[in-house]
Amino acid sequence: MTAHSFDTVVRGGTIVTAADVYQADIGITDGKIVAIGRDLQEAATTIDATGLLVMPGGIDSHVHIAQPSGEGIVMADDFESGTRSALLGGNTTVMPFCLQQKGDTLREALKKYHALAEGNCFTDISFHMIVSDPTPHVLGQEMPALAEEGYTSIKVFMTYEGLRLRDDEILATLDAAKRSRQVVLVHCENEDAIRYLIGRREADGDTAPYHHATSRPIAAEREATHRALSLAEIVDTPIVIVHVSNREAMEEISRARLRGQKIAGETCPQYLVLTADDLDLEDFEGAKFVCSPPPRDKESQDACWSGLENGVFDLYSSDHCPFRFDDPGGKKTEKGMQSFRWIPNGIPGVATRLPILFSEGVKTGRIDLNRFVALTSTNHAKLYGLYPQKGTIAVGSDADLTLWDPELRKTITNDDLGHGADYTPYEGMEVTGWPVKVLLRGDLVMEKGVPVLGKGRGRYLPRKRSNLINGETSL
Ligand code: URP
Ligand code: ZN
Ligand code: ZN
Ligand code: ZN
Repeated sequence: MTAHSFDTVVRGGTIVTAADVYQADIGITDGKIVAIGRDLQEAATTIDATGLLVMPGGIDSHVHIAQPSGEGIVMADDFESGTRSALLGGNTTVMPFCLQQKGDTLREALKKYHALAEGNCFTDISFHMIVSDPTPHVLGQEMPALAEEGYTSIKVFMTYEGLRLRDDEILATLDAAKRSRQVVLVHCENEDAIRYLIGRREADGDTAPYHHATSRPIAAEREATHRALSLAEIVDTPIVIVHVSNREAMEEISRARLRGQKIAGETCPQYLVLTADDLDLEDFEGAKFVCSPPPRDKESQDACWSGLENGVFDLYSSDHCPFRFDDPGGKKTEKGMQSFRWIPNGIPGVATRLPILFSEGVKTGRIDLNRFVALTSTNHAKLYGLYPQKGTIAVGSDADLTLWDPELRKTITNDDLGHGADYTPYEGMEVTGWPVKVLLRGDLVMEKGVPVLGKGRGRYLPRKRSNLINGETSL
């Protein structure tokens, strides 16, 4: 026989899904998983997974790529470098934001982002729309039309001048999302309180990066989280509380769940392994850790870990939002050194997301392998309408696979991460466990830290409705 049963067989690995851990081979044809079993037949290509974990490719549903970020500031990643970094970190799908700038329609924003992404991606992608200008046209026409075309999620901000929506605008947007059956991600921080505190810090001469953290206190996040959940309750629509940094905001999520609200919660690596003290480093180095909400303290880290273990959080995402440290366009500008107010908010992290959770979470026994896969892949697919095409290893699913060496020890260093930033906040961190091979729709696209095939293999993914919108009460 010369005809092979499969295009590719991944042989000898340990398959890990959100539900199971078992030994089997995976047969792949035309980019899809077509068989799972012991001793599958010959294939045109065999990929040896002996000693490796075979997991669904990571899905990072919270990344910022090529997002306009203010005068003189340039995001460090375009779609090529951002998705390359994602791939090196074991991801096969990322979900960047498509920012509607004031005065633009959502269609205009989409046109720009699709043009930037087209032909440049190493992973599959799909956009969340950021609504910054909820005009009657946006709410009444564009949101329902775009939802039907597979743009089934939007994000709104309660903070950042130019982006933040007032409560009446948030309510109108949530109500429109209910009608269009889109899920809404909410950035919860009280902008008025923060602006007041920024003014106070500057008046007192406290302009160093550390005061980014003191001007965005836990109470400002907790209050906004409570308000967002209340607004969602008023119009009875599901929301996602993103990048939660502390116990008090988590308690708001838990209380809303007890009231019966359909919600999802997300935390990020920076809230597990960084603290506000990192913003206090000498020589303006603290600016490397400026993101919002800011990293807190040890107690908050422990709380976020417990939320990953006990289900307060459904999602663990990077909030990759890369800026160079050095000028041009980065954090260390003249203005940024005059006041933290001007330091762009965000840190890179799409490549280090999985290793940090594996090393600090699985290896320490805080979470098991199934939970690791749920938090890094499966739940993202379910929440954002990609399941079971993505997010699991099953017959009929896309053959997006990350082959993971659970014993590989690495010292995180910026040179290995493939992104456009000139630093990583995790430089020097020692981790155990690293992705060694990645398949995207059946093709080997990454091996030993190097993309094997060129950019442009990533596709744009239209999405179905969220599981939460389809009546599930949880993921
Ligand atoms: O500091 C952050 N997180 N910047 C990215 C934008 C956002 O709020 O998600
Ligand atoms: Zn043969
Ligand atoms: Zn945000
Ligand atoms: Zn973000």
